Amino acid sequence: MVKLSPSILSANFANLKEDIEKVEKAGVDMLHIDVMDGQFVPNISIGPVVLKSVSKITNLILDVHLMIDEPDRYIKEFVDGGANIITVHLEACTHIHRTIQLIKSYGVKVGVSLNPGTPLNHLEYILDDVDMVLLMSVNPGFGGQKFIPAIKDKIRELKKMIDARGLNIDIEVDGGIKVDNVKEVVEAGANVIVAGSAIFGADNVEESVRSFREEIK
Ligand code: DX5
Ligand code: ZN
Repeated sequence: MVKLSPSILSANFANLKEDIEKVEKAGVDMLHIDVMDGQFVPNISIGPVVLKSVSKITNLILDVHLMIDEPDRYIKEFVDGGANIITVHLEACTHIHRTIQLIKSYGVKVGVSLNPGTPLNHLEYILDDVDMVLLMSVNPGFGGQKFIPAIKDKIRELKKMIDARGLNIDIEVDGGIKVDNVKEVVEAGANVIVAGSAIFGADNVEESVRSFREEIK
């Protein structure tokens, strides 16, 4: 079963509660929370304070994507804020193995994300330790960018790596996913789909979620 995780980056932050209720009612599985520090990525978004408020108004799984340098400093805050899955960027961690263990020590799920240009072999010695790999299909920092087609091969390769080791790891893909390309992404091996502008930015959220489901059923 493919899971949908709409990114609140494209929601209306002046009307966040209503927007979240809309996607929840439309039947999505998770809520993707994009955290940006203006350092690792050239944009600043939200932090643990907003996450905490969001956690109080939704039952969706909170899928927190940290685009921040040296995230160890803030893991506890995001756990306390209600994160169910915390994903860090491999490129942002000096000691990725330590960061993974730290997240796990709080009893939440752990994901590792790779920028489009980062090769999969960096996962070699940590793959067994993670619950999810998040492949970026745009360069992180902004919603509404164009999907990078080469990432489809990367998804296929990752799926092979995971299957070869007999692991049960989610493959999440994030950036530029729309109703008209989601099928290819899922066929390549992704089972968690992030969509920001295509869901929160849609005129009719419910209809957009329905169209996504239709494509990937
Ligand atoms: C990009 C973020 C994405 C983004 C996706 O840095 O990590 O989650 O919000 O937005 P769309 O679906 O519009 O590309
Ligand atoms: Zn994201």
